[in-house]
Amino acid sequence: AERLDELISGLTVDVPDHPEPGVLFRDLTPVFADGPAFRRVVEGLAAASASDPRAAALADSRAGERPFDVVVGVEARGFLLAAGVALHTGVGVVPVRKAGKLPRERIAADYALEYGTATLELHADSIRPGQRVLVVDDVLATGGTLAAAVTLVEQLGGVVSAVAVVVELSALAGRQRLAPHTVHALWTT
Ligand code: PRP
Ligand code: HPA
Repeated sequence: AERLDELISGLTVDVPDHPEPGVLFRDLTPVFADGPAFRRVVEGLAAASASDPRAAALADSRAGERPFDVVVGVEARGFLLAAGVALHTGVGVVPVRKAGKLPRERIAADYALEYGTATLELHADSIRPGQRVLVVDDVLATGGTLAAAVTLVEQLGGVVSAVAVVVELSALAGRQRLAPHTVHALWTT
């Protein structure tokens, strides 16, 4: 079978100067649109998370127990992946959203993007203290987005058992920004 990183890189389309000059945008929508590739990506995110030593330490001693209780996905592309992983593993999915979208009591975190700044929000009752959370997104660039998502989850008392992405853009050093959490990337470029 084709290697997962090669499958992802082969389907990803590089778009120069989007959304602004100087940014080489990695468009993953063709990966999501390909049924077998999307399935392997979802399975890969779930498996990478299960291999996390931090997640393993949190897992029940029962063999085969998944090391997370809920999957958090970051708007918008993270939603597609988080829903897939949640369905695949039999847990629920919780959205981290851009400002102004969630209707009830919420907490907020500001963050800087590779291009611009923004605010992420999480419903205050969406994570229970002690719940083990897998945080998922499509791309790790500067890490600002995922760092904000992790901060929100931890503010509610959630325990981040793993952080997983499809693509890590290593030149932007997002991995360092996420420390002490380890980022699991299916493809690092
Ligand atoms: C992109 C991407 C990640 C984030 C990565 O989302 O999907 O969430 O940026 O960048 P960072 O590591 O530098 O924070 P974007 O904010 O463009 O939102 P979208 O998914 O709604 O298009
Ligand atoms: N592709 C997709 N999403 C992104 C990128 C990118 O290159 N950079 C920041 N978010």
